[in-house]
Amino acid sequence: MTAVMTEARPGDNSTLSFDVERVREDFPILKREVHGKPLVYLDSAASAQKPRQVLDAMTQAYETIYSNVHRGAHTLSQEATDAFEAARVKTQQLINAEHAGEVIFTRGGTESINLVASSFGEGFLEAGDEVIISCLEHHSNIVPWQLLRDRRGIVLKIAPIDDDGNFLLEEFEKLLGPRTRLVAVTHISNSLGSIVPVAEVIRLAHAQGAKVLIDGCQAIPHRKVDVRALDVDFYAFSSHKVYGPTGIGILYGKKDLLNSMPPYQGGGEMIRKVTFEETTYQDVPHRFEAGTPAIVEAIGLGAAIDYVSAIGYDNMAAHEAGLLAYGSDRLREIPGLRIVGEAKEKSSILSFVMEGTHPHDIGTIVDRAGVALRAGHHCAQPVMDRLGVGATARASFGIYNTRGDIDALADALLKVQEIFG
Ligand code: ALA
Repeated sequence: MTAVMTEARPGDNSTLSFDVERVREDFPILKREVHGKPLVYLDSAASAQKPRQVLDAMTQAYETIYSNVHRGAHTLSQEATDAFEAARVKTQQLINAEHAGEVIFTRGGTESINLVASSFGEGFLEAGDEVIISCLEHHSNIVPWQLLRDRRGIVLKIAPIDDDGNFLLEEFEKLLGPRTRLVAVTHISNSLGSIVPVAEVIRLAHAQGAKVLIDGCQAIPHRKVDVRALDVDFYAFSSHKVYGPTGIGILYGKKDLLNSMPPYQGGGEMIRKVTFEETTYQDVPHRFEAGTPAIVEAIGLGAAIDYVSAIGYDNMAAHEAGLLAYGSDRLREIPGLRIVGEAKEKSSILSFVMEGTHPHDIGTIVDRAGVALRAGHHCAQPVMDRLGVGATARASFGIYNTRGDIDALADALLKVQEIFG
């Protein structure tokens, strides 16, 4: 028996009660061992594992309907196109976008942000215009803006955090001004788990006439996101962190805004008419989907959306909040361990350092106990610098984790402590 029903509307809470053991049954990889120990997967912020429903949907698509989309006159192409477009509609419903065409499929969350930096940046920003990001950003929401700064002469401003990793809304507000054109901030920090008050950020930015992009890669797996309630202009995320396949990401954007932006890449599918003298372009979503898209990955994403929708965001958030509280308490008991990032609003991530031990050594030693962590700067070097740590070890939770997983981590960390302490 699987843990989910497939009929739920995307984002709706299922009436099923949450049973983590039944959820775990859906994830075949959780049955494997690592170094002779049961796998304890605590690296979902890097990439989540995939339920059988996603794997089956992709295999079935390859076995029964696979073909290119939007092109052929034949039956397979029509069926593949229908399944691909159905995934777009599921994504639209997941985030409550007004139009399916506002969901652009990209290669990943990183490409979604690069698309906005390139297309919105080239289309609308001039030298001296200001873009505000925050100190919490992943490199994928820093470097595209630096590249744009180098190309266009824009000014990049950084909204600060406090020593606990809290986003400082009042300090952010002070950075807004008449030249602010875009605010691009994360919804949830990948390195610390801090939750940014994005609704307030959007309201304040809009009051100054600036557009807002939210990097939602770490939020979509954990929180119900409603782009219309937020009134956000762009929302970027990836499939692979929300239990879908790699190789596909999502850019939500308001339709009129997207249609006013120049194309990001040129090629097939995104054109209306091509002559050697001139080309005219399609409206969204095709305007930003040049070339053959990630067809089966989109179908897998659709299955992942069905999966999380059937479980329900309220159930997932409650389960993960319990894990975070329990994990924080267990880690605080370990001598010499310090949690890095104690924001008031946090989600599903525990970053930490241990006295006298490099995070990479922590990662290697706990791996011998079957525990998978990420160690390093988490592609967020500026926030590591801000908090005075070069690197951390990071445990991150998904819907399949248990208190037993956290106990296994705590036991493994005590061994680290014995070796280095
Ligand atoms: N952005 C991913 C992480 O935080 C890869 O690990």
